[in-house]
Amino acid sequence: MTEWNERPGRIRRAPENFLGPAEIEAVKQGRRDFLRKAFLSASAALGAGAGAAALAQTAPAGDPAILNLPEWSKTLGMPVATRGYGMPSQYEAGLIRRQSPGLTQTAASSVAFTPLQGMFGIITPSGLHFERHHQGWHDIDPSKHRLMINGLVRTPMVFTMEDLLRLPPVSRIHFIECGANTGMEWGNVAVPTVQYTHGMLSCSEYTGVRLIDLLEMCGADLKKGRYLLAEGADGSSLTRTIPMELVESGEVLLAYGQNGEMLRPENGYPLRLVVPGVQGVSWVKWLRRVEVGDKPWGTKDEAVHYIDLMPDGIHRQYTSLQEAKSVITSPSGGQILLDKGYYNITGLAWSGRGKIKRVDVSTDGGINWRPARLETPILSKALTRFNIDWVWDGKPAILQSRCVDESGYVQPTYGQLRAVRGTRSIYHNNAIQSWLVNEAGEVSNVQVL
Ligand code: MTE
Repeated sequence: MTEWNERPGRIRRAPENFLGPAEIEAVKQGRRDFLRKAFLSASAALGAGAGAAALAQTAPAGDPAILNLPEWSKTLGMPVATRGYGMPSQYEAGLIRRQSPGLTQTAASSVAFTPLQGMFGIITPSGLHFERHHQGWHDIDPSKHRLMINGLVRTPMVFTMEDLLRLPPVSRIHFIECGANTGMEWGNVAVPTVQYTHGMLSCSEYTGVRLIDLLEMCGADLKKGRYLLAEGADGSSLTRTIPMELVESGEVLLAYGQNGEMLRPENGYPLRLVVPGVQGVSWVKWLRRVEVGDKPWGTKDEAVHYIDLMPDGIHRQYTSLQEAKSVITSPSGGQILLDKGYYNITGLAWSGRGKIKRVDVSTDGGINWRPARLETPILSKALTRFNIDWVWDGKPAILQSRCVDESGYVQPTYGQLRAVRGTRSIYHNNAIQSWLVNEAGEVSNVQVL
């Protein structure tokens, strides 16, 4: 497979040349062939093992990259802490957050997408975490930041960051997905790569204090106060209503830590709300105030944005839970399969309702499905990595993944989703994603109903 590239792929055509059920045996054989080929070339290059000489006949000529010692391996390397804060290799410079070519950005409303196509496992390195700002970002002085808790509480309180850092912390791994993720696809705008279709998605280990503990310190009236208002300190004064039952579950965190260090400024340093399973807009950054109240606030951020225009013309508000969704991250749009033969199809699945129970993968546009391997850990409201073997026979193929969560919810097709939601939505698109592989091995974004 080539490196990810930015070539647009806007091919739309019906599924064709489906692979039959014999694919399963072909897959097993393909993996054996692939591993044997790798073993043969390694044995030939090293000249190692009793059988190597006999096998060498079928192996390629000696590879200079393994036969010759490179210069650097004979010289003194860099001293420790050359870079006090470590950075990725220069050879990884292409793996960065990017702004979508299909989206108009303004200084006030901006988004940069996570490069899902080049990542492993489930944790998003903090430097690749997606960014979504309603009024830009700031790097604010934590010593001047305050959190106020007021409303239906016995004692309104103001906390400094030092106060919060003294309290007993918890650390939990969760995904965050913007409600607008995959939004362009509603309008049949097939953006070219998985970075742009699904890259408003990240997963981190968050550290902080449980919001319920602070509410108890303030003597919150949990009988009357069934809602919270969370308010950000940035120019957008982003405000979202959070139902109290989510907080009472103990899952909602006031987080200052992300992946073992303080939050990044872009992600709300020094304090953000973490609302597991709920769309990203409720994860208020630069959090400055939490008010306890007895009804939803219906603020601008919940009356105008992140609502669903249903087929009957009614706007649906407060659909904050992110339903089960999955996507194949490799092979994916913009990549090229250079050769027929064995590939590992890999991707991510997640659900706002809990754990992922199962992911099935189709290589024929949804006719035949095979269960993928779910890699551990499988955590509640976190990304789950899946893998499955595939032997590409050089014919067109359509790759899809479909997940099921522990509540039994099954990720819908575009046909099923549109039957309920119509076509005028922007948010909350969790339909099955399809990648077309053409005869040349080029992978592009297509929609299959
Ligand atoms: N909080 C504040 N204060 N201001 C914002 O612009 N954007 C929201 C949410 N919290 C936002 C905010 C949206 S829409 C999303 S999807 C997430 O933050 C994005 O978080 P991230 O930028 O850390 O990825």
